Formats: sequence, C-alpha cells, structure tokens
Amino acid sequence: MWRGKPVFILKKTSEMKDSPRDAIINKEHYTIVIGLCTHLGCIPAWKTNKWKCACHGGEFDSSGKNVFGPPPRPLDLLPFDVKDNTLILGKEGPEYNRILSVKI
Ligand code: FES
Repeated sequence: MWRGKPVFILKKTSEMKDSPRDAIINKEHYTIVIGLCTHLGCIPAWKTNKWKCACHGGEFDSSGKNVFGPPPRPLDLLPFDVKDNTLILGKEGPEYNRILSVKI
C-alpha cells in the first residue's frame, strides 16, 4: 500500500513484452504501478498474464497498459527510487524520471 492505495510490483518474465513503462533495475524489468483500475477505481486481479478488473471487464497487460474494456488509460505509474537493493515508494528517483521522459 502507498498512501492508502494498493501497489502492484511485477517482475517481468522473458515471455512478457518489454515496454517504455518498464522500470529496469539490475537489468531486470519491472512494472511498478498503482493497483486501481483507471475506469472507476476497482482493484484488478492478476489472472493469466493480465490484470483483469471484475467491475466492468477492463484489462491491463503486464506493463499496466489498458488493452480491453472501458479503462481510458494505463494503470498509473508510482514514483519510486532504488537505493542499494531497496525499493523506495513515493520518491522520484532517476529511473522513475527516465520512464516519464520516454513513456508514450
Ligand atoms: Fe475497472 Fe470499470 S472499474 S473496468
């Protein structure tokens, strides 16, 4: 949880497509997002390589991009920083700012 909101942190597998939204930490790709559907705020569940929202059927891929249903945008990125091997949520570090500079 971060500021009362659920957080999704997914370490992507080699089968998952890379995305400009990926956080690259120690050469591994991660999705770090707020776990609230961008339609009306339900909490999607991870099922078969997607987050699926039970409220109105919205779906998000492993990068948090909206791929089906009513959600109007991807899952919101969560500011983060990495110090040594610790992930710090809510602090804008260089990797988070790199994602913001290239995201589409
Ligand atoms: Fe998730 Fe409507 S709240 S699809």
